[in-house]
Amino acid sequence: MPRPMLSVLDALPPDPLLGLMAAFRADERANKTDLGVGVYKDENGETPVMAAVREAERRLVEGQTTKVYQGPRGDADFCAAVERLVYGGDPDADRVTSFATPGGCGALSLGMRLANAARKGVPVWMSDPCWPNHPHVARALGMTPRDYAYLDRATGRADFQAVSDDLKDVMSGDVVLIQGPCHNPSGSDLTTEEWGALAGICLARGALPLIDIAYHGLGDGLDADMEGVRAFLAAVPEAIVSYSCSKNFGLYRERTGCLLIQAETAAAREAAATHAASIARADWSMPPAHGQAAVATILADEALTKQWSDELASMRARILDLRTAFGDALAAEGRETAGAAVTAQKGMFSMLPIDAAGAERLRAEHAIYMPGSGRINVAGLVSERIAETAKAIAGVITA
Ligand code: LMR
Repeated sequence: MPRPMLSVLDALPPDPLLGLMAAFRADERANKTDLGVGVYKDENGETPVMAAVREAERRLVEGQTTKVYQGPRGDADFCAAVERLVYGGDPDADRVTSFATPGGCGALSLGMRLANAARKGVPVWMSDPCWPNHPHVARALGMTPRDYAYLDRATGRADFQAVSDDLKDVMSGDVVLIQGPCHNPSGSDLTTEEWGALAGICLARGALPLIDIAYHGLGDGLDADMEGVRAFLAAVPEAIVSYSCSKNFGLYRERTGCLLIQAETAAAREAAATHAASIARADWSMPPAHGQAAVATILADEALTKQWSDELASMRARILDLRTAFGDALAAEGRETAGAAVTAQKGMFSMLPIDAAGAERLRAEHAIYMPGSGRINVAGLVSERIAETAKAIAGVITA
């Protein structure tokens, strides 16, 4: 009797972030604190449907007449709206095209596959530290992740000199993955000038930039967050951008993302688009429509757009307040450097000097959940417990 094929597989460890989410849900202790997976939480610890999204959904349910296929690019209005969010206006249609994807991960995967189609097995350079799913996606596609230094762990700031030094080893055609605003996991972003200098490096090395934007609007604002990215895109002939609407529209489970392709010429854009369509056809055939339609509905309506951007602004303000309160509380526990870093960082995440053993102790002794990397989701902090959370965390900080 031949051995059944699936019995050769060994079980894999759980995904570092999704495993944490399951463990938190199973924890029955009161006053548990979830600083793990990057989802926004309000003051009640909820991740509500945004009011603008709810209204868009109401209109969609009432007005929808068919659910027939839309084609591999998805909703053209959604694609155009995301292009405007990224470029700050309509980009050059000869050079830019985009595809709706199942979430930001779908866009990342499609972008990497596109690079892989241009040059098989191409290395993908990514920041150290990075979002653990970046190397995971690259490896799953048979591509090799390479690291470039990013974070000065002593100060918690992005170290552009270290970035430039490491990117000297990039070879022509390599993919350089750069995170847009609100770097995950560090919360430390490059300045607009550094984005400009990075464009120069990518140009000089002949690299293909892949910019991952998953937290647009959660840093300093919708336009302010995109300054560096826009300067970068204006300076390079070609780039791939993955965009996620999970966090800034709160559409997590609707899997609403977009891949933007900027090519040097119309012919190159056209050819790249045929590859993207063919790859998408093999993977998911057509992207899910509901989240895209909600985003397109919001961004086509001035009042709904304002409602959405106001809601986003209040999410951003809440995160900033939590950053300040938590940074001060860490400083009050004698952790001034970590506290100052948390206050200065942007978006949902900060990376604290905490090792896996420290994170484990926090979970066992205080029901505080964070990945072993020391990354925290600031939006998961609970205002009334900030002082005690900071005390517990200060006790395991290693530097
Ligand atoms: C995170 O980094 O926590 C989020 O992007 C959620 C995820 O899918 O990992």
